[in-house]
Amino acid sequence: MSIIRTVPQKVPLIVADSDKFGPPRNWKGIGIAMVVILAVMSLVLLSVVLEMPFMEHLIQQYETLTVKSCPSFVSENEVVLKTREGHILSHDMLSNLTFSLLDNSTLVGDSSKEYLSLLLSTLKWLVCVCVCVCHRHFVELTPPEKDTAVLQYAAWGPQGSQLVYVFENDIYYQPDVSSRTMRLSSTGREETVVNGVTDWTYEEEILLTYPALWWSVDGARLAYLTINNSATPLMEIPHFLGGTYPLNILYPYPKAGSNLPSVSLFVVNLYGPAHTVEIIPPEFHGAGDCYISMVNWISSTQLAVRWLNRVQNESVLSVCEATTGACSKKYKMAMDFWQDLQQEVPLFSTDGSVFYLTLPAKQGARGEFRHIASLSTQVSGRSFNFFNCFSIVLCFCKIKERGLLIHKSKKNSYFLSTEESRQSRHLYSAELEGEFRRHCLTCHLIDHCSFFRVHFSPNLTHFSLYCLGPGVPKVTIHRTADPSSEYSCTMKAFSHTLWDLMGLFSFNFLDLHIKLSLPPGFEGNVHALLVLVDGSPGSQSVTEEFSLDWPEVLSSTSNVALAWLDCRNRVSRPQRSSTLDHRKLDSLRVKDQLAAVEWLMQLPYIDRKRISVYGKAFGGYLSLKMLAATNQLFKCGAAMAPITDFKLYSAAFSERYLGLPEKEEHAYMAASLLEDVPKLKDEQFLLLHGSADAKVHFQHSAELLSRLVKVEANYSLQLYPDEGHALKQEQSIQHLHRTLLHYLQNCLKHDPFLSYLEEEEEEDEDD
Ligand SMILES: *[C@@H]1O[C@H](CO)[C@@H](O)[C@H](O)[C@H]1NC(C)=O
Ligand SMILES: *[C@@H]1O[C@H](CO)[C@@H](O)[C@H](O)[C@H]1NC(C)=O
Ligand SMILES: *[C@@H]1O[C@H](CO)[C@@H](O)[C@H](O)[C@H]1NC(C)=O
Ligand SMILES: *[C@@H]1O[C@H](CO)[C@@H](O)[C@H](O)[C@H]1NC(C)=O
Ligand SMILES: *[C@@H]1O[C@H](CO)[C@@H](O)[C@H](O)[C@H]1NC(C)=O
Ligand SMILES: *[C@@H]1O[C@H](CO)[C@@H](O)[C@H](O)[C@H]1NC(C)=O
Repeated sequence: MSIIRTVPQKVPLIVADSDKFGPPRNWKGIGIAMVVILAVMSLVLLSVVLEMPFMEHLIQQYETLTVKSCPSFVSENEVVLKTREGHILSHDMLSNLTFSLLDNSTLVGDSSKEYLSLLLSTLKWLVCVCVCVCHRHFVELTPPEKDTAVLQYAAWGPQGSQLVYVFENDIYYQPDVSSRTMRLSSTGREETVVNGVTDWTYEEEILLTYPALWWSVDGARLAYLTINNSATPLMEIPHFLGGTYPLNILYPYPKAGSNLPSVSLFVVNLYGPAHTVEIIPPEFHGAGDCYISMVNWISSTQLAVRWLNRVQNESVLSVCEATTGACSKKYKMAMDFWQDLQQEVPLFSTDGSVFYLTLPAKQGARGEFRHIASLSTQVSGRSFNFFNCFSIVLCFCKIKERGLLIHKSKKNSYFLSTEESRQSRHLYSAELEGEFRRHCLTCHLIDHCSFFRVHFSPNLTHFSLYCLGPGVPKVTIHRTADPSSEYSCTMKAFSHTLWDLMGLFSFNFLDLHIKLSLPPGFEGNVHALLVLVDGSPGSQSVTEEFSLDWPEVLSSTSNVALAWLDCRNRVSRPQRSSTLDHRKLDSLRVKDQLAAVEWLMQLPYIDRKRISVYGKAFGGYLSLKMLAATNQLFKCGAAMAPITDFKLYSAAFSERYLGLPEKEEHAYMAASLLEDVPKLKDEQFLLLHGSADAKVHFQHSAELLSRLVKVEANYSLQLYPDEGHALKQEQSIQHLHRTLLHYLQNCLKHDPFLSYLEEEEEEDEDD
């Protein structure tokens, strides 16, 4: 067992260097705002009593700071970003000038919201707006025959101002902003057939993005998915508020074992007369009911497509001809359930003869890690070379930005890697030809930053770097050729005000990874412990990513230690990999979590009588399973929108995990929480659920509650009417934070009277 202690760090305050900018004053504003946030944060971590509204404000500001102010590249040398006040600015890195594109008042008013998001997601438009801003020239997107339809999606193409958008599940195209609209598809049907965007299953489980269309590099062709849910059962979600009768929202949601959406891939020719070709799936076992989990253009006429069978244990990567629709099978593999990278985009060499993928490979005693492998497109099958004489340890967590190989330029590839440590993400470059020499671009680049995300400019000359932890997050822009120089449009480090971050520890125990966060000055105290459970397959919670949310508030206000655990998976448990049966994943996970909790209880600064557990969705399921598996080990627990029975949950998830319900009845029974209800009778816990949750339906909690009532269990319940999986209303979010804080504070508080009684009891026993 190894214990790594990262010393509580001094973190520099970040402030914008306003002198460096040209005309606008906004930078100074941002800088000052950030100083305020950061100074406030030091208060959070040090002060004992903190007003809740203040905290809410802080969390909101933190979210705004990290999520909404991301700069995007408009061209090689120009970024556009939105300030906290909502102004949109552009910064040119060559001329070193910043100017205002849109004032925050421009877009306020009638249609503002959707319009704004459209503007932000389509940056070239901004350039146009910038040129025409003096004339206030806006163009509204509406297809000719449908002037009341709601815009579902819009995006720019690679050439000029090509524009594609989706209305009422059909795709429309304009060669440029002022030209006539062409309709590209006509099969769209409300609720059942969608073109160019994803349905629930594809957005949440398979592609993990909303758009389902891909431009060829030259802008001459557009590939898109048609997802047909005609045979899929509909889920009905009642909305109770504001009417005499509830309004029911219907949408296709295939639960385990039911009919899946059928999917087809089309390519439409945009230059000349529109001509649509359907891509024919390659022959493979289970091709009948399949998913498409990745589409990517290789050249102007060829596409790489990944097909998955229904239970997702087999995938076929194929190269398809856009002109004829024929696909050839290039690489077939047993899907790695544990490493779950079905969206990974392969990288093709310029001449198309070789492609690169990350594949698991043995790496001595440390187990299997994903490495970059090169495969030939000439021979189909499994002939490939690993670059495995170099220990490239690629990130094996679930990556939402499809794929690991970020980009290629000439001979270089760029990727994020966990080579430095399992908890970090650094950007590396490596030559694809020759010796494959790796070079870390972000190691030691920025103080207190070791967890990065990155976006490149179109031609890779610049990248914006999102430092996400362990220090306070910040965004900087760098030149690829010389990453050490930051651009003036970045926030500069300012080292006057310092504060102590919470002590962050990471432990490895039995190959389980544990992160423990303790309030400052923890040595002299014993603390209650809150275990935060995620545990969904493929996720990693023990990382160096910074976070600021209600658990951190609980920690700093009530002296509670926070722990995150990563369960065993194939990567950290190489010897057992073949014997780990994923149908028993839940019981393994519960065992792992409990082993870790018991280990944490031995620490001198943890109070073993005050331990609690929280989780959401799959984490909520595991939390309740942990309560059921123990006898009052936990003083209390909280579960938000728990999955209680995998038969009620999404087919794509449940089947990947447990197989088909008709064949694996036993596995479904064993995994179900509903069977464990008698064991929850004497546990104290809080259940939370939004009644309009479209991902984990309220049905899960309903089934659980009816059984809890029968066994006369002592639980607390908080419902959020008409709220979804993620709460939307600001008041609901605040209420949720308060409810959780209040419940956990109450349950975990140190009760001197109680401990006095217990001590007496112990003494009595001694007598
Ligand atoms: C940008 O302008 C600032 C002053 O406004 C100057 O200090 C800085 O050196 C300039 N940067 C470049 C790359 O020219
Ligand atoms: C627009 O920006 C100004 C400051 O520049 C700020 O006072 C105002 O609140 C902002 N308006 C909105 C709607 O955000
Ligand atoms: C969708 O599938 C149904 C059968 O499940 C079929 O009748 C219908 O034609 C399909 N629609 C499209 C647009 O493919
Ligand atoms: C995938 O799963 C099915 C049934 O669960 C099984 O019959 C098949 O052999 C599996 N395929 C692979 C490649 O493991
Ligand atoms: C990107 O590079 C290509 C070829 O190297 C060039 O034609 C194109 O103009 C470049 N694009 C930008 C925005 O610099
Ligand atoms: C039920 O739980 C509450 C706290 O949530 C506790 O005060 C009460 O004593 C419990 N009742 C029983 C019968 O265990």
